[in-house]
Amino acid sequence: MFYFGYRRVAETEKVKLVQRHFNTVARKYDLMNTILSFGLHHLWKRSAIRRLGLNPGDRVIDVCGGTADLAILAARAVGSSGRVVLCDFNRPMMDAGRSKVIGSPSSRQIMYVQADAEQLAVADESFDAAMVGFGIRNLTHMDRGFQEMHRVLKPGGKLMCLEFSLPTASWFRWLYDLYSFSIMPFLGKILVGSWEAYIYLPESIRMFPQPEELTAILQEIGFSRVTHRRFTNGIAVVHLGMKHTPRKEEEINLSRSGKSSNPRASQR
Ligand SMILES: C[S@@+](CC[C@H](N)C(=O)[O-])C[C@H]1O[C@@H](n2cnc3c(N)ncnc32)[C@H](O)[C@@H]1O
Repeated sequence: MFYFGYRRVAETEKVKLVQRHFNTVARKYDLMNTILSFGLHHLWKRSAIRRLGLNPGDRVIDVCGGTADLAILAARAVGSSGRVVLCDFNRPMMDAGRSKVIGSPSSRQIMYVQADAEQLAVADESFDAAMVGFGIRNLTHMDRGFQEMHRVLKPGGKLMCLEFSLPTASWFRWLYDLYSFSIMPFLGKILVGSWEAYIYLPESIRMFPQPEELTAILQEIGFSRVTHRRFTNGIAVVHLGMKHTPRKEEEINLSRSGKSSNPRASQR
């Protein structure tokens, strides 16, 4: 079953609706993010990048990178010898962030690839870190998005997923629901001209797995050392994980038995 917010949709329709949503919001996306989160999204992004622990020279992929906030922060962390590939399937979103990238001191480290997160057009095991900020919720098959991030990470590579969630305190949840379903779409109508676009946002947040469920999904996909941290009473959550590094004995045993340590290899 596939959903666009609370609406049940056909598998093929979902991707079109998501593209149309981002076509609508792209030009005002950054402004709306800052207004709706009272500027908090900048703090969450900075903290998430800090926790990811990038090193100078790292190669990073920013999946669903949109207007490039995370890519710019990552480029700063990896320095002039590092690289950040921003991957997104929506041209207006990438274009909306282009001036920020050009104006940043790390612009030369950032490259753009227009591609679907469910089919990343990049080689296996080519990145030290893979990150996705507020994007995975929009995918038709979230698991395929994470599998792709797992595929492109080098063994021992790091994953970071920053996504919206729900407050843990009941009084705050009540206020947040009120805010989400009245003020958010109202501001969407006034500033972007679309009530629907800012109804999709709170609905899709409520359809997204809770942090503990997301941890289980990531572990199932093959990430190890998965941890999460809530920001602002749970409005946003960062998950961190690592692509399993096979231990030497495992590699020896697998090579003796003629099996590959890469589960995808056996499917080919
Ligand atoms: C909410 S924006 C987040 C942008 C940015 N990462 C940030 O943190 O501000 C979500 C982005 O995901 C992109 N997106 C959604 N589904 C996608 C898919 N299947 N493949 C690639 N990009 C996708 C959208 O185009 C949009 O730019």
